[in-house]
Amino acid sequence: MKNLTMLFALFMLAFSCTVKNDSKQISGAKLTPQWQEELPGVWKSEINEPADFNLLSVSGKEPRQDAIKKMKNAPIPIDQKEVEAFTRNGKTYVRFPLEKEEQIFGLGLNFKTVHQRGKILRLHMDHYTGKDDGRSHAPVPFFISSKGYGVFINAARYIDIYVGSGVTKDSKHPAKVVDRNVGKGWSSRPYSDNIEFVVPEEGVELIMFTGENMMDVVRRFNLYCGGGTLPPKWGLGFWQRTPTRYSDNDQRKEVAGFEKNNFPLDVLGLEPGWHSKAYPCTFEWDEGRYPDPAGFTKEMSEKGVYLNLWCNPYLWPDSNLDKKMKNYTGSHTVWCGTVPDYTIPEARKIMQDHFNKHQLDIGVSGYKIDEVDGFDHWLWPDVATFPSGKDGEQMRQTYGTQMMTLTDEIYRRKNERTYGLIRAANAGSVSYPYVIYNDYYSHRDFITALINSSFNGVLWTPEVRQSKSSEEWVRRMQSVCFSPMAMLNAWASGTKPWSFPDVYKACQDVAFLRMQMLPYIYSTFAQYHFEGTPPFRAMELTEGYYAKAEETQGKLDDTNNPYEEAVKKEVKDQYMMGDYVLVAPMFAGEKERKVVLPRGKWYDFYTGKYVGDGEVIKVKPGLDKIPLFVKDGGILPMIPSIRQTAEWNNNTPLEIRVYGKADGTFKLYDDDGKTFDFEKGKYTMKSLSVSNGKGSIKDEHTGGPWNFGKVSWKFMTK
Ligand code: GAL
Repeated sequence: MKNLTMLFALFMLAFSCTVKNDSKQISGAKLTPQWQEELPGVWKSEINEPADFNLLSVSGKEPRQDAIKKMKNAPIPIDQKEVEAFTRNGKTYVRFPLEKEEQIFGLGLNFKTVHQRGKILRLHMDHYTGKDDGRSHAPVPFFISSKGYGVFINAARYIDIYVGSGVTKDSKHPAKVVDRNVGKGWSSRPYSDNIEFVVPEEGVELIMFTGENMMDVVRRFNLYCGGGTLPPKWGLGFWQRTPTRYSDNDQRKEVAGFEKNNFPLDVLGLEPGWHSKAYPCTFEWDEGRYPDPAGFTKEMSEKGVYLNLWCNPYLWPDSNLDKKMKNYTGSHTVWCGTVPDYTIPEARKIMQDHFNKHQLDIGVSGYKIDEVDGFDHWLWPDVATFPSGKDGEQMRQTYGTQMMTLTDEIYRRKNERTYGLIRAANAGSVSYPYVIYNDYYSHRDFITALINSSFNGVLWTPEVRQSKSSEEWVRRMQSVCFSPMAMLNAWASGTKPWSFPDVYKACQDVAFLRMQMLPYIYSTFAQYHFEGTPPFRAMELTEGYYAKAEETQGKLDDTNNPYEEAVKKEVKDQYMMGDYVLVAPMFAGEKERKVVLPRGKWYDFYTGKYVGDGEVIKVKPGLDKIPLFVKDGGILPMIPSIRQTAEWNNNTPLEIRVYGKADGTFKLYDDDGKTFDFEKGKYTMKSLSVSNGKGSIKDEHTGGPWNFGKVSWKFMTK
């Protein structure tokens, strides 16, 4: 009897385990992941035994629950029974279904492709090598489906993912077999109806985000990872990075050059030469080039110039920092320097104290954190070991994030916002004030990366370094002024904005235009912070972009419906800045280009004239203009041309430009531009609205600074 009771109890236990959660099995057999709705439209599933160390544990940010809860509920749009997973030999395999028309976006900061269906990727932190194979500066394991859902694989591992390339024997939509010897239409890539991935761990945490459209999916992902960063105002001004060996006097001359040539300048970037030795780094000022760092920093600050310091995290042997860090470094060196394990609190503290004492306390505004991505030869190998017990692979996938969290923390403690550069980020980086850059230099691919950044919760700058011609120079300058960081990185070339005199006026105009648009750009970043909406975004995330054939006009091209054709293809060279401005950069060698205008009326930014609606148009701008279009009802708050953000104050006139004839609204955001007080409610949000051709302003949130003087409205479309 006793045995029978025990048997019954065991049976009940086994039964309740299966019923409660089919996502845990140890047998290696296939299971159907169970999804728990943690927040509206955020669904979690734990497959077997996920590791404790993962991408979100490193980034350490809490989900922005309040903001997610304001979003509309969204059911899971796929048949959950079609999702399968199993763990075998220390690896976890997962499969999701794909439909015929479905497209997949995301999966890292790709440079050549936006559509990911058909790709085979190994998501692996690396410097971009010229191929979209998964190795990138942000190998974010998050895919977004055009069906209105996305899946985030929360693992700090290299992940192999087959995006509609593998074909299973039990496929519900088997590919057509054609005898190659006699048949026609034989395909070298048979149709695949699934997306499969392998995580080299005993289990994995999956987080699914759903939404009415892909934008809502992205917003939920961003909010879940902490919400977008809000840079200080100065971070959105113009940046100049100077040659490596510049001294304080050279920097003074550089700043004077910007004044003399009347070119915007908010940030001066000091490259390796500010260190007494680099690389690896001492993190101590070079006494010859910078005899008085505190005095120099103060002097620059009085000129309205913020300093950003280059570093890589590897320590010069026997430097002060290296000695202190002795017990906390990994088995290998990088650039001959020791590699701190920043997952160890003591190591973080040593570095943070050093940063505080030598840099933050004297007024340094931020860092450029280099070499945290790869290339393979320039990083530790995967066989490296680290004192915390993390392995080389885990460290590689997260080192950039570790550096971002470490520096973000110290600036937060000082209640000062920073904005900097990083060469490696991952999922969970969205709320960190860093922009990704690299050494690659294709202008076109830089724009594709900017588009892809919006699917991955990261920011990217198409930095300008040098150019073969004046035409290339001005085209690159125009693009960078419409990006998260308007920067000239002259560390090797010594170029200045006026290096190509024949196009100087055009460079100056576009840099000042960015300054004029700062209220729009800053508010767009506030939207990133409060609502998770990426500031620079892919066309696919724009309302009205996908349209049915009969709703579009099919003009200006010789195909039947060029618009429909165009949106099905990858659009890799145009993007949205905020809700209203479509940016279509020009590239050297091109006199004209096509622009795909989403459904709804669009207007020329410069003239306010109507240009089209749901169609493909051709534009032929001169060298002096980057094509910009504004959506019907678009409201753009602008200020006069200022050279530095320091000039923006409560006397600055506000001109509200209105485009088209439709009603529209824009949330104009303002705060002190430099502290975290906005997180405690000290900010101002006003709703600018146009209805029946009349503009009005309404308070949405009060209690913070409002840096505008006289307000005027300008209706651009006559
Ligand atoms: C590179 C970096 C460049 C520049 C250079 C200085 O690794 O990508 O932007 O900072 O180092 O040595």
